[in-house]
Amino acid sequence: MSGPQFHQVTHPDFEGVDFDRLQVVLAVMAQKGGVGKTTLATNLAGLAATRGDRVLLVDLDPQGNVRDELGLYDHEHNDAGEALREAILAGESIEQLALEVRPRLDVAIGGINTRAISDVLVREKNDEMLAQLAEAGYEVPAPEAGEWRRIVYDLPEEIDFSPAYHGRLALALDRTLAAAETAGDPYGLVVIDSPPNEREIQLNIMGAARWVVSPTMPDFGSIRAVTEIIDMAAATEDGAHQVDMLGVVLSGVTDHTRNIKRTAIDAIEAATRSQTFKAQVPGRPGEYEEVPLVLGPTVRWSTATAQLARSKGKLVYEVADEHEQRQPWYEQVRAGAKSAGPVASGAVGMAADIMDVATEIFHRMPSYAFDKADYMEEADV
Ligand SMILES: Nc1ncnc2c1ncn2[C@@H]1O[C@H](COP(=O)(O)OP(=O)(O)OP(=O)(O)O)[C@@H](O)[C@H]1O
Ligand SMILES: [Mg+2]
Repeated sequence: MSGPQFHQVTHPDFEGVDFDRLQVVLAVMAQKGGVGKTTLATNLAGLAATRGDRVLLVDLDPQGNVRDELGLYDHEHNDAGEALREAILAGESIEQLALEVRPRLDVAIGGINTRAISDVLVREKNDEMLAQLAEAGYEVPAPEAGEWRRIVYDLPEEIDFSPAYHGRLALALDRTLAAAETAGDPYGLVVIDSPPNEREIQLNIMGAARWVVSPTMPDFGSIRAVTEIIDMAAATEDGAHQVDMLGVVLSGVTDHTRNIKRTAIDAIEAATRSQTFKAQVPGRPGEYEEVPLVLGPTVRWSTATAQLARSKGKLVYEVADEHEQRQPWYEQVRAGAKSAGPVASGAVGMAADIMDVATEIFHRMPSYAFDKADYMEEADV
């Protein structure tokens, strides 16, 4: 025997996970920062909840922006993700720590404390590697000696030492969904907000999600980064676990920049290697068609809306609703008001864009048929 044989093995965390149950898990992921992940994740979750589905929104970005977006920073339950971290590392249900922040919308609050999830998992992975080496007959020095790295580097090339990705989140979410089912109030959708460039966490999210949607800005840097997410999803498939790219959402475009939009969509086509998605044909149950990965609807840029939304802890369609219901400024002045308060006239347009994007995303999830008409009355944008 020329040397020890290592194989990429399914991580033990996956044992017992019911991947059928995880069909409702949608992750919003991008390798680039600031491309609209959190905005998309929170608004998708919020919109789905307005239809009456019970929705769980999980913030796995240590920046904790979901909490900020929903106005929860000062909430007494804001533990910056500590409880979430502990539950995930233990592979336990997170249902009991989720906070209902809107009717039917539960949020697992994240923040800086979730950063240690990666640290712990990396350490576990190192321990696992050392154990494998020891089992294969290598003399493994104590980690303090700092020598084990050299041993790893000296291993023959044909040995695949790429570690199995972790299924801890899959386990925790499976148990969460099972607990909600048992309690008689199942989740219809789980949305995960994710950090840019945090490999351990991202692999865990990919290990738990059935669907991945990736937002991008029109610049080539963010568009090229979409390829990395696609490759990561492909590399994460493992036996019973299947994860598919569901779509790419172009954000940050306006009607005035049609050429930019065309160029960006062509670049996304290239970055996705013209990958298609098998989508249901609208109005024809059971029939499918191949559609481009990039979604038809895009999200326009409205700085005023985004700022107003975050400063008020409101979702974009909530800001739009308020905008439509507010008294015209001249009436306010007549009534004696000194200032009409902040305005975001772009909110209605941006909310309409996000709704179109949401409709298309939900339509692409076979387990989650969604019709825009279902929530038009309530959101009324
Ligand atoms: N369509 C938009 N128009 C204007 N501003 C937007 C839009 N979408 C998001 N923003 C703003 O841009 C910033 C980045 O958006 P967001 O937080 O959603 O991106 P992200 O990809 O989650 O970022 P990060 O990688 O830091 O988590 C935020 O301040 C947000 O309010
Ligand atoms: Mg974010």
